[in-house]
Amino acid sequence: MLFKQQALLRQKLFVLGSLAIGSVLYLVARVGTLDRLQPICPIESRVPPPEPEQIPLRTLQFKRGLLHELRKGNATKEQIRLHNLVQQLPRAIIIGVRKGGTRALLEMLNLHPAVVKASQEIHFFDNDQNYARGIDWYREKMPFSFPHQITIEKSPAYFITEEVPERIFKMNSSIKLLIIVREPTTRAVSDYTQVLEGKERKNKTYHKFEKLAIDSNTCEVNTKYKAVRTSIYTKHLERWLKYFPVEQFHIVDGDRLIADPLPELQLVERFLNLPSRISQYNLYFNATRGFYCLRFNIVFNKCLAGSKGRIHPDVDPLVVTKLQRFFHPFNQKFYQITGRTFNWP
Ligand code: A3P
Repeated sequence: MLFKQQALLRQKLFVLGSLAIGSVLYLVARVGTLDRLQPICPIESRVPPPEPEQIPLRTLQFKRGLLHELRKGNATKEQIRLHNLVQQLPRAIIIGVRKGGTRALLEMLNLHPAVVKASQEIHFFDNDQNYARGIDWYREKMPFSFPHQITIEKSPAYFITEEVPERIFKMNSSIKLLIIVREPTTRAVSDYTQVLEGKERKNKTYHKFEKLAIDSNTCEVNTKYKAVRTSIYTKHLERWLKYFPVEQFHIVDGDRLIADPLPELQLVERFLNLPSRISQYNLYFNATRGFYCLRFNIVFNKCLAGSKGRIHPDVDPLVVTKLQRFFHPFNQKFYQITGRTFNWP
């Protein structure tokens, strides 16, 4: 009997001892893990430093996430108030040229932490109805941004619309104006291709480019055809120069923006007085698209929509040459005025 009781006691002691050793081992292991996961930090580093007056650019990289949410309508009024976000009138506008690469330029500039783009073309200055809605309507179309960021808008119709220079001048006479151009004949064919695609989508037929670009009565270039007129860059620019000095314009080479975008973007950064922040990391060539695409960070990258970079129809080489000869003197004048020369034929 005594022997049985002693054995029972020994068993109980063994179980209790095992539990105690187990608990000690568990605690040692846990503390070890915690040590590795959470190194003891000095207490000050846990208190966030006060927000400086000017937010450093690297901080904005993070805050872009918030702006992205804002654009999707996910941010609350409280966040807008808390971060001092404002809707600002653009300090720079991409005024044209249609099919020059205006979307690519805007999206690529938006890689810069100090730039915020208006996603949609607003058509405030070229559309009488919109213009009549007033400047506050225009401002409300702008994205939220930090006060020291630059908002940029693009509406390529501005470049060719008569009333626009005066209207923009009235809003801000010192605004910076960006014009992206491509070799004029290629741009005209690109313009035609966009219209053709629209017609095809509606199952409509459309003329061949040659028929539109050449006047069948005179066999000369048809200057009434809009795609041709838009490519006479100097004519439009001269209208703008009645309001703005040439220094307020920056000409972007749209052909180079396709082939090697970074140097063009660096020139724009300089023109906008921004520190150089867009790097080769932000731009990568996508062989499937045949164009450069954008890399914002390790997880977020994007290419432009499929409507950018269409395949152009073949155009009669004689018509191409005729157009190139037609544009030549206008191009020379354009180089002279802007101080930027291109290898256009
Ligand atoms: P194509 O469709 O003729 O190739 P816009 O934005 O002003 O309408 O200009 C469209 C043009 O942007 C396209 O004309 C395309 O060549 C050019 N482009 C420049 N960079 C591009 C890019 N990274 N991705 C797609 N298209 C780009």
